[in-house]
Amino acid sequence: MSIKAVDLNFVYGGGTAFEQHALFDVNFEIRDGEFVGLIGHTGSGKSTLIQHLNGLIRASSGALYYNGENIYEDGYDMRALRSKVGLVFQYPEHQLFEIDVLTDVCFGPKNQGLGEEDARKKAMEALKLVGLDESYYKQSPFELSGGQKRRVAIAGVLAMEPEVLILDEPTAGLDPRGRDEILDQIKRLHEEKGITIILVSHSMEDMARYAGRLIVMNHGQKVFDGTPKEVFRHYKELETIGLAAPQITYVVHGLKEKGVDIDSDITTVGEAREAILKLWQKKQAEKSGD
Ligand SMILES: Nc1ncnc2c1ncn2[C@@H]1O[C@H](COP(=O)(O)OP(=O)(O)O)[C@@H](O)[C@H]1O
Ligand SMILES: [Mg+2]
Repeated sequence: MSIKAVDLNFVYGGGTAFEQHALFDVNFEIRDGEFVGLIGHTGSGKSTLIQHLNGLIRASSGALYYNGENIYEDGYDMRALRSKVGLVFQYPEHQLFEIDVLTDVCFGPKNQGLGEEDARKKAMEALKLVGLDESYYKQSPFELSGGQKRRVAIAGVLAMEPEVLILDEPTAGLDPRGRDEILDQIKRLHEEKGITIILVSHSMEDMARYAGRLIVMNHGQKVFDGTPKEVFRHYKELETIGLAAPQITYVVHGLKEKGVDIDSDITTVGEAREAILKLWQKKQAEKSGD
């Protein structure tokens, strides 16, 4: 699996008075098994960009390659692309509409042309992947908690067995527990099923914890692309575009300024805890050596 964007440009309402240039010459390549975090201020082009990746939006100019094939070439099978690149929209629960959970999750595989029995099998596997057991099958999606609804929506996409799963702010509006559950679920899909993940999120903490790579958008342009550590090193520039590093990075920088010998590249609380413990142990050893 690989997705390659070459000089992608997109203009909403081209040729009208409402013309809005939303993407400017965006380039990147995403390879099999990556966990990519996509960040950027509201309106920076994240949602527009990800809708290009499964062909929902067609670039105004530039090219997009899926497994080396230009998806804009005549005769390209867009329907197959949409099954391989699963897109979970923001507030996906707004798209739940079937009478019960199992029927809802069957919708995608049926739409792919599977028969009743096969579709049910795929749906059941997908529900299992998001941690919803048989007791949920016959429940109305509308009776579930916010986090559960969202898991049903994710299962609906997983049931089509995508190679890439793109999620647009899947934790928005959930309480901390629902948020952690969804993120852990996504992490498990990545680790155990090897699904490539592209995650849009506002939480720098989540990004530092889960993503192996961050792509940062600002006003329709890609401005940073690297590991979370590389990207958060630019925390001062991130602030100028309405973003920030994880809170813990600021704490660590504060300690460093006070003369504490700590790695300023730390981006998670776990790393900070380890570094501080090591410093403490070193101090203890020095003391007992005196
Ligand atoms: N349907 C639309 N019609 C016109 N402009 C749009 C539409 N959707 C988004 N935009 C504009 O495109 C830009 C990028 O928006 P979007 O991709 O939604 O950003 P993000 O997801 O990062 O918040 C913004 O300026 C937004 O106002
Ligand atoms: Mg958006």
